[in-house]
Amino acid sequence: MLGARRVVVTGANKGIGLALVRALVAEGSTDVIMTFRKGNNGPEIYEQIRKECPNALLHYYLLDITDEASMCSWLAKAGFSS
Ligand SMILES: NC(=O)c1ccc[n+]([C@@H]2O[C@H](COP(=O)([O-])OP(=O)(O)OC[C@H]3O[C@@H](n4cnc5c(N)ncnc54)[C@H](OP(=O)(O)O)[C@@H]3O)[C@@H](O)[C@H]2O)c1
Repeated sequence: MLGARRVVVTGANKGIGLALVRALVAEGSTDVIMTFRKGNNGPEIYEQIRKECPNALLHYYLLDITDEASMCSWLAKAGFSS
């Protein structure tokens, strides 16, 4: 689909976000970063995909895209800030 790239998927615990993660992981060549809002079932979903595809390049972070502090914290943790 995308070749060797890093893709960030917000709202990755369900719906379109989760479907996109599954498609990228199935392709195998993409580093996929799943992000979830605190308190949802994201970490469990992450573990489930990890079990299904143990060799996948997969990471997860907590992120609320409407919360500036959450965004700044995530950017730093994920290595996107200078
Ligand atoms: N389904 C369709 O056929 C379709 C078609 C066209 C467009 N869309 C649009 O595409 C978007 C996603 O659709 P969907 O069906 O995947 O919806 P969904 O199943 O309701 O999933 C929405 C995702 O966004 C997350 N989210 C909501 N607010 C967020 C925030 N502030 N920060 C980070 N994540 C947040 C939710 O997390 P939580 O679980 O924590 O709430 C959830 O993971 C929606 O805007 C929808 O209107 C959908």
